[in-house]
Amino acid sequence: MPFEDYNPTVMDHFLNPRNTGEIDHPTHQAMVRNSVCGDMVKLTATVKDGVILDARTKTFGCAAAIASSSALTELLRGKRVEEARGLKNGDVVAFLGGLPDHKIVCSVVAEQAVKEAFPA
Ligand code: FES
Repeated sequence: MPFEDYNPTVMDHFLNPRNTGEIDHPTHQAMVRNSVCGDMVKLTATVKDGVILDARTKTFGCAAAIASSSALTELLRGKRVEEARGLKNGDVVAFLGGLPDHKIVCSVVAEQAVKEAFPA
């Protein structure tokens, strides 16, 4: 897919992903796989007193997946866990200013990672 199909915010988060890597001793974590393409996201987080102090991702995936993971970490940091549980992939897409229709599926793993890392 040509990069010109992505808006500047998506390109920035793809080329300069925020909060990458893995926390050494996370309090919460998830490893999720996109059921459509097989791409993977590992999310690790540190929670103290119900607040997400740190969130990091390692992503094996396309530009949209990498940008979505980056957006996810920005959305999670500083949120209360109960607030984070309400995050949907649509929030990730909105944070990025939109994704091409056929790449929305690449943001779904972000929501799956939240569900797995912070079960209700
Ligand atoms: Fe697999 Fe985008 S093609 S997440």
